[in-house]
Amino acid sequence: MRIYLIGYMGCGKSTLGRRLAKHAGLQFVDMDHFIEERNCKSVARIFDEEGESGFREKERKALEELAEFTDVVVATGGGAPCFFDNMALMNNTGITIFLNIKPHILASRLLSSKTVRPLIAGKSEPELITFIRESLDKRIGFYEQARYQITLPDVDPAEVMSMIQNP
Ligand code: S3P
Repeated sequence: MRIYLIGYMGCGKSTLGRRLAKHAGLQFVDMDHFIEERNCKSVARIFDEEGESGFREKERKALEELAEFTDVVVATGGGAPCFFDNMALMNNTGITIFLNIKPHILASRLLSSKTVRPLIAGKSEPELITFIRESLDKRIGFYEQARYQITLPDVDPAEVMSMIQNP
């Protein structure tokens, strides 16, 4: 079993991923942390030194590696489905679930988050909401290629497992 959680920054991929993995007895991998370990650099530092394109190359490599893990829940980075043929790679190697959460909920979570996210660093609340709406417009077509969608902000892991086991 290999599950990929996808969706915008702040949609709760890591939180749900951890709970889902625990519930189903699977390993949990946060893709950003995996990239940081493999490269011995924070995501922020990779963006700083190599730009977004450098980060996307490393993200793709990480995904290729993770696509060979078994019995795992992967919380992917928010942009991962939108570059190269990453979405196809995930759909061909596992179960993809899109956490489709409303922009105002994303914005409030991101404003109170301690994680450094280079794409939104320093944005005020109104700037952030505009940025989320504009980038979601560009990303939604990728996210919607996921096999399943969840729109509840705090879904129960048992419900997710029953959704994918009884399609
Ligand atoms: C990004 C999302 C981040 C991280 C990077 C870029 C994006 O991951 O991969 O900062 O392009 O949406 P999270 O979705 O876990 O915050």
